[in-house]
Amino acid sequence: MRTLCNRVKVLGHGKGVNRHSCISTRTGVCYRLNIPAGQAVCPPHTLEEKNLLDRDRAEDLLTEYTRSPSLLNHALAVEAALGAYARRLGEDELTWRITGLLHDFDYERWPEPENHPLKGSEILRSAGYPEQIIYAILSHAQYLELERKSPLDQALFAVDELCGLITAVTLVRPSRSILDVTVRSIKKKWKQRSFAEGVCREDIALGASELGVDLDEHIGFVLEALQGSAAQIGLIGVAEEHAEANAQLTG
Ligand SMILES: [Fe+2]
Ligand SMILES: [Fe+2]
Repeated sequence: MRTLCNRVKVLGHGKGVNRHSCISTRTGVCYRLNIPAGQAVCPPHTLEEKNLLDRDRAEDLLTEYTRSPSLLNHALAVEAALGAYARRLGEDELTWRITGLLHDFDYERWPEPENHPLKGSEILRSAGYPEQIIYAILSHAQYLELERKSPLDQALFAVDELCGLITAVTLVRPSRSILDVTVRSIKKKWKQRSFAEGVCREDIALGASELGVDLDEHIGFVLEALQGSAAQIGLIGVAEEHAEANAQLTG
């Protein structure tokens, strides 16, 4: 007998079919069949399906625990950077993207070092996420002193703080657009210790060397990846945001 996954709510039983809708609050649709919630008549979800890697399910988990727009944008930025590195290194892009999306999903609720990312890793484990993802997320926390062994562990650590620095550099520009940011402007702010002092420059440099990439090249590569996702990560800039809002109003 097939078992319903915990994302669906049974609405009733018809002739030979179970009527149910996906309980995803973010998308409101069945992640498998894309049927709007409340109208779905689809075969029951199985537990095996529940354990499959799915980006939207990962995003649902992220948004269940995270409300802060800046933290959500950070997760999306790290996702974009890891996606780009996965493509460059010939690794599994979905696995890497999901790792980026979820690396801080527990942070808003449990920001203390004794909890983040340990609480999150327990949740991920019970949700059936692979150990490869869980270990990479654990090892991005320097204070846990875990060895970063796999390219995924190293890449996550290398891009995490850098995404924070690039975001900070973008947000002090009058345009607030990442498209106006250059490697040179990032390096300039890098040297200015009072700027974004929470961003540990040493961790970024260490991350690049662990990953075996030249620091400037690493900065340029991540910047380009984030520029490619400017709108999704909230760094498209004020002019474009206004243009988009106007288009929506007039459209
Ligand atoms: Fe973190
Ligand atoms: Fe992070």
